[in-house]
Amino acid sequence: MPSSGVSHLAGAAQSADIVYLDNSSTTRPDSQVVRAVTEVLEHDFGNPSSLHRLGAKAERLMDEARERVAQMINADPGEIYFTSGGTEANNWAIAGTASAGKERHIVSTTVEHPSVIALLDALHEEGWEITLVGVDGEGRVDPDEVLDAVTEDTALVSVMFVQNEIGTLQDCREIGRRLLSLGPKKPRFHVDAVQGFARLPIDVKDWGVDLLTMSAHKIHGIKGAGALYIRKGVRLRPLVFGGGQESGLRSGTENMPGIVGFGEACKLWSEDREEVMSRLASLRKRLIAGIKGALPDAVLHGPQEEGVAPHICHFAFPGFKGESILHALEARNVFVSTGSACSSHKTRPSPVVMALGRSEDEALASIRFSMSRYTTEKDIDRAVEALDESLKELSAWRKK
Ligand SMILES: Cc1ncc(COP(=O)(O)O)c(C=O)c1O
Repeated sequence: MPSSGVSHLAGAAQSADIVYLDNSSTTRPDSQVVRAVTEVLEHDFGNPSSLHRLGAKAERLMDEARERVAQMINADPGEIYFTSGGTEANNWAIAGTASAGKERHIVSTTVEHPSVIALLDALHEEGWEITLVGVDGEGRVDPDEVLDAVTEDTALVSVMFVQNEIGTLQDCREIGRRLLSLGPKKPRFHVDAVQGFARLPIDVKDWGVDLLTMSAHKIHGIKGAGALYIRKGVRLRPLVFGGGQESGLRSGTENMPGIVGFGEACKLWSEDREEVMSRLASLRKRLIAGIKGALPDAVLHGPQEEGVAPHICHFAFPGFKGESILHALEARNVFVSTGSACSSHKTRPSPVVMALGRSEDEALASIRFSMSRYTTEKDIDRAVEALDESLKELSAWRKK
């Protein structure tokens, strides 16, 4: 195992011998997905809007993908609208609602993804009233507080399902059902389900969800594809205008390779989700035990076992800089993240960790490990070993 140094970095990205634990940023496309995508690129390249048989084939492939996505969340295929990913779907759900009615208030939480928070900031600038409900020390929002924040002027409640940095699950079912009990004038309920979709059970009907965001590249699909579930009967203003694709609501020639790959990735998860997720839950336990055993000062952010997604695990290593740890691990071919992908190029403390009531130093000292269906026990053991070596090396540097 390399001890340190930049010289090891060049080969790392090409090496098959890497431990990739940054799956909440993006996942490696599954080989089945790559095959399906390649088939579309090479052979089934028709435009689904074309009237000839290549167009008809493309349309059929898109319908199949739509059906697979719908099945994952107990929706009807006609309620699934393909987008360029989770960011667009979140923006569409919120901005589309914001321009729909007379209400001028939105309720959300302090730990949402930047694709929600940044838009809410922009709407606030335009005069919208935004209430961000806080979370407890493990990142959980209290459904009572969400409901208490709702007023007659509330157009939308937007709460994410799985927090992307610390893995905490929000009780979206409880929130959705309680919103339903407000009757016909209830605000719309949007769930950003990017990190939970396909991996954890979601039932839009049972949860009382109006709008739900999904993304393909987090589940071994390819980048640039996602979807928004829009409950039948909910009217949403389009974000993208043009040729009228996606039933007139999301124009632009469809990203067929991405959409077909998305459907293929859903198929994969529908076959063995429970088995994969229970394996990931034991890997997470192994990772926590390994880190706590080797590094007793490490602090777990988010819940230990209950109420957390099995694939995400976030630790602070007080006294160290997360970014230095990330690079020391990278030199050992172990790939992790210091926070959410969108903010990981900036060395500012994670607002999510700060929302848990942690100090700025602790927020800057944290590392996210996120697993996929391919992660093995060996990967976890190698990551723990590399982490131990990295912190020893960084401590030695500090003393020089
Ligand atoms: C919770 C959450 N929402 C939305 C997104 C954005 O999804 P996409 O990368 O498909 O735009 C991400 C991506 O990290 C995410 O983790």
